[in-house]
Amino acid sequence: MIHINTHFTADFYTPTEWEALLPEGEKALNTLYEGTGAGNEFLGWLNLPGNVTTDTLQAIQSQAAKLQKISDYVVIIGIGGSYLGARAVIEALSNSISHKKEGADYPQILYAGHQLSGDYLHELVHFLRDKRFSLISISKSGTTTEPAIAFRILKNLLENQVGKEGLSERIVAVTDANKGALRMLTKELELPSYVIPDNVGGRFSVFTPVGLLPIAAAGFDIAELIRGARQMEAKLFNDRSVESNPALHYALTRNLLYRKGYTNEVLINYHPKLAYLSEWWKQLYGESEGKDGKGIFPASVQFTTDLHSMGQYLQDGKRNLFETILRVKQGNYSPEIPMGADDFDQLNYLAGKSLDWVNEMADKGTLLAHLDGGVPPIQIEIDRLDEFHLGQLLFFYEVACGISAYLLGVNPFDQPGVEAYKKNMFALLGKPGFEKENQALKARLG
Ligand code: PA5
Repeated sequence: MIHINTHFTADFYTPTEWEALLPEGEKALNTLYEGTGAGNEFLGWLNLPGNVTTDTLQAIQSQAAKLQKISDYVVIIGIGGSYLGARAVIEALSNSISHKKEGADYPQILYAGHQLSGDYLHELVHFLRDKRFSLISISKSGTTTEPAIAFRILKNLLENQVGKEGLSERIVAVTDANKGALRMLTKELELPSYVIPDNVGGRFSVFTPVGLLPIAAAGFDIAELIRGARQMEAKLFNDRSVESNPALHYALTRNLLYRKGYTNEVLINYHPKLAYLSEWWKQLYGESEGKDGKGIFPASVQFTTDLHSMGQYLQDGKRNLFETILRVKQGNYSPEIPMGADDFDQLNYLAGKSLDWVNEMADKGTLLAHLDGGVPPIQIEIDRLDEFHLGQLLFFYEVACGISAYLLGVNPFDQPGVEAYKKNMFALLGKPGFEKENQALKARLG
């Protein structure tokens, strides 16, 4: 299970302030579970883990096995919620150097359509031109520009390799049941496809085929991921008190800190494999909470790497931030520091100690130093980095996010702010229908 420790944050608010917030937390939690809040048409994710059937899992696994057999590389095409959950899990579980599942010959997962860089796409195409590769194209709307461009280019590359008739073996689509360009193409090319339910938004979709198919294609155990999520689903639903519900506990703590002026949350981890978990978390919380002039700004750092860059700011900079430290109790490997014959580097005092232990001391020392510097810390700990514990963690974050957003008084499930850049971009690109805006923007840019 997830362990949350807010022992040290209690220095930053009074017991009365904490007690006063509890009814609001309870109300936010009930709003979420009773489906009475804003955006309640997007609550399909809330009981997704429990609703995923064995048949669905088996169908996804057998599709993944087909892709594995014919591909050395699988390219996930998607942006935002359409790729971050999968990437978070795949990177957390893959070998740090080969970026693949260890052991048997699983494909390496590559990503496209998550930005518009010409260099990136050129280099990817160049790399893939003589490789065996497949595509998983993911877009709920089926019309998002970034993945649509990447798909068009990579589909052409694939067609040159395997011909039009070979595409249905090498491309799988995950999209809306009926709408969007991707669904139309799926019909035209008779591609295998999976549906993103209407009532699940992108950033809450990791337990749909959006996350499950890429994770399975990378060779990871989606049944275990779902088992972990299901266990967390039951716990959070059944244990509604703040003492035993980690999602409510986390949501209340971060909300109270926000009210006390700590408006930025920095997610910290001590394992580079968790970098994309932080990216997923930032999207989940940033898009869900940052609206109506409100919201905790979600940021992330990797320690100890960033202690040599951002560490200075965190220790000594503007005091408007709090930290959430995500710890993994037990790493998969923990090499020991060897005894040195001449101790030229004066590290013999560490001989025989494990790297995990050294990392843990860095974590504890940093926590206390930052506490002395006026930074409230929340500690979240999972036992191991495996599918089961990641399933628990992701679902915990999702529920906590829903509660947090309702505590803040915003709709967790819309993202009106994402449209502004799209409108301007379409106008500047000369998309039909945006002619008036094109003139106005060009005049502003000079
Ligand atoms: O969380 C969200 O809703 C967004 O981040 C979307 O996932 C993202 O914009 C991609 O949208 P789509 O899946 O429609 O291509």
